[in-house]
Amino acid sequence: MVRNILAELQQFLLESPGCFHAVAALKHRLDAAGFTELRESERWQLTPGQGYYVSRNGSSLLSFRLPKCQAESLHIIASHSDSPSFKLKPDPALWADGVLRLNVEGYGGMIRRSWFDRPLSVAGRVIIDDGGALRERLVYVDRDLLLIPSLAIHLSRDSAEAKTISVQNELLPLLGLTSDAWARVLSDAAQVSADRILGADLFLTCREKPTVWGADGEFLSAPRLDDLACCYASFAGFLDAKPTSDIALHAVFDNEEVGSRSMQGAESDFLAATVRRILLALGMDEEGMRAAIARSFLVSADNAHALHPNYAGKYDLVSRPKMNGGIVLKRQAGQKYTTDAVGEAVFRAICRKANVPVQDYANHSDVPGGSTLGNISNTQLSIRAVDIGLAQLAMHSAYETMGSADATHLARFAEAFYGMPLPKVE
Ligand code: CO
Repeated sequence: MVRNILAELQQFLLESPGCFHAVAALKHRLDAAGFTELRESERWQLTPGQGYYVSRNGSSLLSFRLPKCQAESLHIIASHSDSPSFKLKPDPALWADGVLRLNVEGYGGMIRRSWFDRPLSVAGRVIIDDGGALRERLVYVDRDLLLIPSLAIHLSRDSAEAKTISVQNELLPLLGLTSDAWARVLSDAAQVSADRILGADLFLTCREKPTVWGADGEFLSAPRLDDLACCYASFAGFLDAKPTSDIALHAVFDNEEVGSRSMQGAESDFLAATVRRILLALGMDEEGMRAAIARSFLVSADNAHALHPNYAGKYDLVSRPKMNGGIVLKRQAGQKYTTDAVGEAVFRAICRKANVPVQDYANHSDVPGGSTLGNISNTQLSIRAVDIGLAQLAMHSAYETMGSADATHLARFAEAFYGMPLPKVE
């Protein structure tokens, strides 16, 4: 299928103000493509040749397509659904000096100053009391609702740029000028009276629209590009890939930005347990399962740092990814990235066949750099893997920037990866 991945990605970003909505947006597309939803709490009966998906906590999602014949191995691409943000604290309405603010705490390592002076809103989920039954409902106030104004320059001459910005004191968004507005907004958004809301996971979300800009439209800026760009591009390739004699599995994990240690994060048993259940349902015994897993391959896809021309000294001497330069292959000696010679060679061989450009990333040798999904997931389901990403600037800003052509590169890679036998290393 010929797709406009750039346009589709922008649409997906608009539908995904947070992790719960991102997973819901993927589920809609899976339903349209004929996939069947499975529940972890039920017994599974799987039919060869069919597609299925299962979510955990509504914020992590595993989608897979079975081969018509006996499965040889699994081809897995993993990305994450969450982004750095601010989470609403309990009873968040703060009324003082005639202004209503919301009380928040940080979620993940955001660039704090990037959250000032931008239209914001609230997105997440609530659990409501529905006549005694508890029901989950997604909530997104789809309008400009909140904003965190900067302090005027005249009042902050001493150090505003340099000092640490306090979340507790300086990053509380303004909601209105009436004290009861929060209860009203929340019950409108959840479509129930406030007293029926028994639980909530609500986050600030940046409402800036995705935009393609630059002299020749080279750049894409949007909130949450890390990691929804990898998530969507790999998903598009997953949907388009030709069936093979292997299992195609697309994984999206929540909580990467806070260390992946949760019921649904990459360090949970979600992937390992699901893979086991799939192989069991296909009639494999323990031996067969171990062998299939040993033949499998995981691509951990999370965005990478593009060279920032204003800060070139922060980068490696040689490996300096360029926007629109192709998929970034990440290596780190300490194994924060899973990539080794074998994983790298398998990845390069597939990219070569699919005619997808590849570029290298290594950290500045004196800078520790970030971590991601692959090595964490490998503690639960240990398989050959590689760490890749798309080159972006301003990682963890409320409004991030990447090359406008790179999501298409990843979609092409994913289609090839899911649609061909894995290259074997003898
Ligand atoms: Co990321």
